[in-house]
Amino acid sequence: MIVQIEHLRKVYDGKPDVVAVDGIDLSVREGEIFGLLGPNGAGKTTTISICTTRALPSSGRVLIAGMDVVAHPAISRREIGVVPQYNTLDRACTIFENIHFHCLYFGFSRADATARTRELLEQFHLTERAGARPQQLSGGLAQRVQIARAIAHRPKVLFLDEPSAGLDPQSRIALWDAVRALRSQGITVVLTTHYMEEADELCERVAIIDHGKILVEDTPAALKASVGAGKIYELDLHDQKGRVSLPASLGVLDGITAVEQTDTGVRVFAQPVDGLLSEVVRTADPFGLRDLTITEPSLETVFIRLTGRELRE
Ligand SMILES: Nc1ncnc2c1ncn2[C@@H]1O[C@H](COP(=O)(O)OP(=O)(O)O)[C@@H](O)[C@H]1O
Ligand SMILES: [Mg+2]
Repeated sequence: MIVQIEHLRKVYDGKPDVVAVDGIDLSVREGEIFGLLGPNGAGKTTTISICTTRALPSSGRVLIAGMDVVAHPAISRREIGVVPQYNTLDRACTIFENIHFHCLYFGFSRADATARTRELLEQFHLTERAGARPQQLSGGLAQRVQIARAIAHRPKVLFLDEPSAGLDPQSRIALWDAVRALRSQGITVVLTTHYMEEADELCERVAIIDHGKILVEDTPAALKASVGAGKIYELDLHDQKGRVSLPASLGVLDGITAVEQTDTGVRVFAQPVDGLLSEVVRTADPFGLRDLTITEPSLETVFIRLTGRELRE
């Protein structure tokens, strides 16, 4: 295991009534893209900050490549690359200099730093922007510079905190490609996100985090399969009465695994049974059925089933 998080706990001095990280255990395998998915305030940044020696745990420990990060912060930092939640590029320096200085800081000779910077600019398609300043770049390009800089000293693990927050959909897809390319170089990636699509598309394994605790951890496919339904029918009903009484009538149908009330109707978790959809419509019709949408389970569904809340508030 390249990253080993054991019984990690964090209470900030400035906020003693909240347990920011509440007993987290996680293992990340070498070479995988691992995602921490959870809403705002779940404890994602705190976890990453401790892993990357930017914050100290209240208890528990983190091992990177077998090394305790609190006991050996300087050596650990050589194995770690970090892209924080907010842009930390030096605005007074060019893109080239931002990466170059990082290499020098990690002990590269001037010649090696220059060669490594050129190589990274090439790899991330940034060569033409080498002389630009960070504030002249789009959000997507700036994020690529941050990643290039973070891996410049060839760390084993890259931590990305909300890498695509604020990016437009096109830049987000370009970012995902850049992250996937890291895997082919053998770099392990740990990222946090509150976008379920990002966790689903990009991550080989995902841990869902809420209120400082890991609720589940598995591949996206296994998490979605855990919902126990191939299809979800969202029934929109005219009147409140139907919402209360319809679930019981639907629950007895063969192939329906669960029914729950929503703000505007009921949500039906269904298995692939022939004729079930028309049966559901026939049953719901007398209860004031107004509209029907069919979806498949997503990581959002998993989160709702676990917490009763939506991922995005
Ligand atoms: N520097 C800090 N001082 C005090 N409380 C903090 C600090 N950073 C985060 N918190 C609190 O810790 C909890 C977890 O926050 P955070 O780790 O930032 O979550 P996330 O990254 O998932 O949004 C929140 O209640 C937040 O207010
Ligand atoms: Mg955060």
